[in-house]
Amino acid sequence: MVKKTIALVILTIFVSTLNVKSQEVNRFFPEKDLITTGIYYYPEHWKESQWERDIKKIADMGYEFVHLAEFAWFKMEPEEGKFDFAWLDKVLALCVKYKLKVVMCTPSATTPAWMRVNYSETFIMDGHYIRAEHGTRGLGSIVNSKYRLFVEKIVTEMARRYGQNKNVIGWQLDNEPDAKPDYSPSSQDAFRQWLKNKYKTVEALNEAWGTAFWSQWYNDFNQITIHNTNLVGWWGNNPHALLDFKRYCADAQAEFLDFQAGILRSHISKDQYITTNYTAVSPGADPQRTQKLDFAAYTAYPNGGSDNIGELGFRLGDSRVILFASAYFKHLGGVSGVMEIQPGPVNWGSYNPLLLPGTVRMWLYHTFAAGGKLACSYRFRQIIYSSEQYHAGIIQTDGITPSPGGEDYTQFMKEIKELRKQYKQGVKMPEKLAARSTAILWNLENYWTIDRQKQTAQWETWNYPVKFMETAKSLGAPVDVIPETSDLSKYKVVIIPAYEMVDSALVKKWNNYVTNGGQLIITCRTATKNRMGHFWEGKLAAPISGLIGAQVTATDMLSAYGKGDVQMGSTHYAWNNWADLLKPYQNTEVLASYENQFYKGAAAVVKKKIGKGSVTYIGVATDDFKLEKDLLRNIYTQAGATTEDYPPGVYVYWRDGFYLAVNYSSTDYTMPIPETSTVFVGEKTLKPAEVLVWNE
Ligand code: GAL
Repeated sequence: MVKKTIALVILTIFVSTLNVKSQEVNRFFPEKDLITTGIYYYPEHWKESQWERDIKKIADMGYEFVHLAEFAWFKMEPEEGKFDFAWLDKVLALCVKYKLKVVMCTPSATTPAWMRVNYSETFIMDGHYIRAEHGTRGLGSIVNSKYRLFVEKIVTEMARRYGQNKNVIGWQLDNEPDAKPDYSPSSQDAFRQWLKNKYKTVEALNEAWGTAFWSQWYNDFNQITIHNTNLVGWWGNNPHALLDFKRYCADAQAEFLDFQAGILRSHISKDQYITTNYTAVSPGADPQRTQKLDFAAYTAYPNGGSDNIGELGFRLGDSRVILFASAYFKHLGGVSGVMEIQPGPVNWGSYNPLLLPGTVRMWLYHTFAAGGKLACSYRFRQIIYSSEQYHAGIIQTDGITPSPGGEDYTQFMKEIKELRKQYKQGVKMPEKLAARSTAILWNLENYWTIDRQKQTAQWETWNYPVKFMETAKSLGAPVDVIPETSDLSKYKVVIIPAYEMVDSALVKKWNNYVTNGGQLIITCRTATKNRMGHFWEGKLAAPISGLIGAQVTATDMLSAYGKGDVQMGSTHYAWNNWADLLKPYQNTEVLASYENQFYKGAAAVVKKKIGKGSVTYIGVATDDFKLEKDLLRNIYTQAGATTEDYPPGVYVYWRDGFYLAVNYSSTDYTMPIPETSTVFVGEKTLKPAEVLVWNE
């Protein structure tokens, strides 16, 4: 396994990977339990004499599992090759005593001091070729063979010790994998190897990277170093080289996780799951690339000092975080859940306000509503020293008093235990919801290419698909965020927002979906490039012009103060962000046209019927999304579905026989539920941060 550099498997095609089908994964989470909650506990931070008190408190507060050891490498291997698990055994015994299950973590995110001192090559280098120092986390060079060897040893020791422990229900790998750029010699080697595997010949690489431009040409793979934006400057950016570097980083990260999962698998019981805790919106690590995990969990910190919705928004947090992550992660392995939910104010926001009472509970309900099978929180006790001193815990600095977030958790668990009694097996999603089921296509590669070349500062690369999601949710649709490899036929409506890089097989798949009756929405910035990130040697968005029934003739954008006008029916809408000018083919319906600028009269939105379905191409990106919302509503209606009209920040879900609603807005909202409904939790009128659970 250990070579000088680790050869990375290239994943040129996205595979909807996590290998294990949802039925198999579900065995880890009995449906009747609905959701299970846990808490991060760091015994290594506290006196041993307090461990029992703390563990008992965890149990008394209603938690069902404890998350251990992800930063405790220094304690498990205090000296190279000398392992000490006696302390962890004691903690595990206490968990058994208080009937708490355990999620065990591999500690690869925090390396012990001896490693940096004796093996400096195990650490990453930044873009100025400065080697990271010991003292924080996430600095191991995941492609360095020596570092791998150390990881292999500690993970093997842990797996041997706890892999058959009946109280250990699962494993978390590493911490918030982030596919960090690493410019160390090990990484340079690994990158060159990755390129050789991908391109085979340097000619192919030269073509893919367009190196004829500005004499970037390479005669040999050995001439290549990682294209380093810190040193080549903005003008020197080669977007194709940078895209490949992102891909390499993401592949290296995925391969590193699979490497750890592989070690665990050969020792652990099949009743223990393997997961990791990706950040909710990860700009680097790509969960779609992992092969050997059972499922992907995520971490959610909605409140980091941003305004959000209305005057209370700064206390309630960003409503998009759990909205997006919960809809995305569950499609990777069949189930998902939140491994870290912010317990209160954090220490890293631009400012860190108190949360509105009930906010943590609302986030928990949001996770649950969106299908989450587990909800865990970072961290039990607020630490009294070090860099996260100001970060809230579930228990305050005295070690015994629950914080408001802790009280929210306890209340949530009590309520979940009551809801479990109401659970009925095999209840199907109500038809009115299924009739508007919607999917949004998402992959990180498009995020990387567009974000690198936004073309207008107004373009918000992640927010654009999310705005579609918020809009579909406001119309009452169940919305999934899916990889392009997913089965589209389950969805009545599929939205493809700004999906820049495509190939003919993908476009064919979209075509088939429509022919068979799907309602497809494609937006501007889709299919403008091939998978190398090159434009077509042809018309703009050439591969989809047949599908959308129009040619994209040009693209315009205005300043932030510009007033673009687009008209649909008798309604005018404002735009200034992005405008594709469309020339419709015969039999293509024009739904909206530009009403000012020198190209007045050009089509902005077109619709084409193909087979049993239809394609709507939205060439314009409006600022308030009113046009997009009206279009979406019409599409649902024409497909025979009813729609709702929930205000921003009020999200409604259905799962396991329960309707659930959360309110991130700053105003009360009265949920229009039938008189005959049974309300299990909350009241029909939801105040900000309140939740409602009912059954119709
Ligand atoms: C998370 C991280 C935790 C903790 C937390 C603080 O991103 O996984 O270990 O640092 O942030 O908010």
